[in-house]
Order: sequence, then C-alpha cells, then structure tokens
Amino acid sequence: MKTLADRLSQQGDGVYELHAQHINPQFVKVLKAIHFDRAFVRGEGQYLFDGEGNKTLDLLGGYGVFNVGRNHPQIKAALKEALDLDLPNLVKMDCAILSALLAEELVKRSPAPLERVFFANSGAETVEAAIKFARATTGKPALLSWENAFHGLTMGALSLTGCTQFRERFGPFLPGARSIPFDDLEALERELKKGDVAALFCEPIQGKGVYLPAHDFFSKAKKLLEKYGALLVMDEVQTGLGRTGKFLALEHEDVIPDMVTVAKALSGGMIPVGAVLMTKKVHAATFDRMDRCIVHGSTFYQNDLAMAAGLATLDVIDDEGLIENAAKMGELLKTRLLELRKKHPVILDVRGRGLMMAIEFKAPDGFFNKMKWAVLDKLEKGLFTQVVIMTLLDKHRILSQVAGHKLDVLKFLPPLTLNESDVDWIVSAIDQTLSDGNVGAGMLEMGINLGKHALTSR
Ligand SMILES: Cc1ncc(COP(=O)(O)O)c(C=O)c1O
Repeated sequence: MKTLADRLSQQGDGVYELHAQHINPQFVKVLKAIHFDRAFVRGEGQYLFDGEGNKTLDLLGGYGVFNVGRNHPQIKAALKEALDLDLPNLVKMDCAILSALLAEELVKRSPAPLERVFFANSGAETVEAAIKFARATTGKPALLSWENAFHGLTMGALSLTGCTQFRERFGPFLPGARSIPFDDLEALERELKKGDVAALFCEPIQGKGVYLPAHDFFSKAKKLLEKYGALLVMDEVQTGLGRTGKFLALEHEDVIPDMVTVAKALSGGMIPVGAVLMTKKVHAATFDRMDRCIVHGSTFYQNDLAMAAGLATLDVIDDEGLIENAAKMGELLKTRLLELRKKHPVILDVRGRGLMMAIEFKAPDGFFNKMKWAVLDKLEKGLFTQVVIMTLLDKHRILSQVAGHKLDVLKFLPPLTLNESDVDWIVSAIDQTLSDGNVGAGMLEMGINLGKHALTSR
C-alpha cells in the first residue's frame, strides 16, 4: 500500500488539474483568477508554508475552525492516543465516556440552564437539530432569522440563510421560514403577533459583513420571544469557543438563550463536529419517551475521535489563555487599524469583537481614486476589497477573505494564537496596500482582469 507521503509527493501542480477533473472545475478557475493557487504543504499554528518554506499568515483560519491553530501538538497527541487505544468507537447501542465528558465540559462553560448537549457533525447539522427541537418544544412551525443571516447550506439551515447567492435555484424553502430586518425589535414583534413562531435564530455577530446588533437587542428580543411563547436560538458556530474574547459571544450580552449551537473550532479543526446546548425543557420536548430516545441523531455523532479532539481543544483553550489572548490581540488590532483609518480615508469602518474583525472600505477621496473605485465597482460590487485581498496574499503573504458576496468588507478570523508581531505584520501590510501608489494603476489593472474573469466565467 502507498504511504500518505507517497501520495502527497505526487501533489505538485497536478493537484489543481485533478480537482478540476473530479471535484469542482469552477472553484479551480476562481483560485487561479485570484492567484490563490498556492499549494501550501504544511500548517502550523497561525501559519501556512509553501514548498519553498515561505510563511503565510492565515487570517482566514479555515473559515474559523483553527481557534487553537493548525496541527496543535496536544490535539494531535490526543488523536494518536485515541487511535492507539483501539476504542470501541460507535457501538451505537451503548454509551461512550468521551461524549459524556465533552458534554460535561461544554455545560461547565455555558450559562446554567443550558445543561443538555446534542452532538452533530457540522454547523449546519446543529442548526437542523435546533429547528426540529424548537418546533417540538413550541408545537409551532414558523422560524425567524435575520435577512443577511448565515446559518449553513443544508435545506433547513439554508431556509434561514439570507444571502441570495446561496439560495438561488434551490427553493422552495422550509415552509414557515421568514426573515426579519437585522436588529429590528419592532419587526420581530410584528412576526411574533402572528402566533405561529417557534424560534428566532440569530448569530451574536453576523458573519456575513461582521455586523453587531444594538447592545440590548438580545435581552429585549428574549423578553418578547418569551411573551409570545417562542425560543431564542443563538448560533455560535462562528463566534463560539473564545473567538470574541469570551467562551461564548452571548456572554457579552445580558441574555440566556434556549439553545446555543457550536461547531467549527470545537475539535481544533481536526474532525467535523458540532453541538447544540439547550435547556432540559427543550431537550425533553423531543426525547421524552423511551421509544423516542433516538428520534434525532446521525451515524457519526458522538464519535470518539471528534470527542477526543474536542476535549483536548477545550484544554488547550484554557491552558494557553486563548480567550484572553483573543480579547487582547483583538483590541490591539482594532486600535491599530483605527489609527490607520486617519491615514487612509478609504477605510470606512473597523468593527468586530476579539478576533472576529472586519475592515469596511468606501470610495476614496480625490477625483482619480474615486474614478478607479467606480470602475472596479461597476465591474463587480466588492471588487476593490477582492483586489486588496489579492494584494495582501501576493505581496505580503497574508491569507484573508471578503466578508460576503458583493460586500466591501475584508474579514479576519485568525487562530486565537495571533501575537503582537502578527498584528504588526497585518497593520503594515494594510498600510502599504492602501498607500497612494498602490491604490493606483496596479490595483486597477488587477481588478479589471479579475472582473473580466468573473464576468466571463459565469
Ligand atoms: C453562524 C454559522 N452557522 C452555521 C454555519 C454552518 O456551519 P458548517 O459549514 O459547519 O455547516 C456557519 C458556517 O460558516 C456559520 O458561520
């Protein structure tokens, strides 16, 4: 049998052709168009390395799964140990200790009434579970979410996801799924008055665009929901596990929801996993009789490798003080970026919490710069930010992302191990990228090529 090293040594340039042939040719086209075809060969902490050993700072973090950094030695050790123990994984008609221990650790870190845990294999799966649990608890069908929300791409989760790009061609959606404007309590009450609402699903900080609702939104929304017999589900798939400088982002608010979903970073980015934390009442509404004890679940839920990685991840987060570091580095990064705004008026806003951070751009001052922006914007909305992202990777070895389709918002979801010299790296890269000469001809040309590519490959 070939070793993994043998297989990896075949990687070279062939990787993109093989992907184009069998997995997703359009994705390969996009990678090539934006020069993201880097074929990294190794990851360590917040860094990625190419075949020549060049180091790239990863601010994308696998869409926010690497809170503890890539290939953390303690998580690798836990996984190797779990394999070497020849555990009786997935007996199914039995209880395994690792899932119980991980549930206990999650409950310890969560607000008191959230004492039951349902495990899943992804963020979207946690949302699907929460939809079913909300309907079972309230006996009502309707599900509310924010217009620009992102809750995943499976059918139920997609029904609660606002972005049209993801919804196009996939309707009809879940009956009863209705969206309300972001951060709008009056719209919420209007919907609740219809009497059919099971739950409101919200991200504490909206991932698409990195928008924070008013500070008292969640506490007031919870009171309204209670008044009309509906539940609050806080989707912490992206914001949970220390990302915002607290274990859960809801700790920044004066609210205790009925359910919280977590996933992404829970297993250190190693094994797919997710969990719904909920009150006993919500749990009992679904799993209330012996013949209903497994009415919801999946083959791989509670699998030992995900659970072992989850336990190790929580230890690493505690041992390395990653929650405190996320708060500290987030503040430092925000302060330094806000200072840059004085020098670069093209920066409209810097927002976020902990290490979930966004920079929003606006048309620059000055006739020529405004014209260049307008050309890019006409080709494709959000193209300016895409060009900034390409420049950050091309010239400064920083991997980042746009915060959503057609948004002029650059987003960072780095590992929470980010340090002060990484912050210097980011700030000087953004400074140089936005400096006059650079927001000039080169960027315009790059954007026009990219825009043409995007238009022709549709
Ligand atoms: C808030 C939120 N919910 C749900 C999901 C879906 O998670 P997954 O991609 O693991 O299905 C995501 C993914 O980005 C997310 O950010």
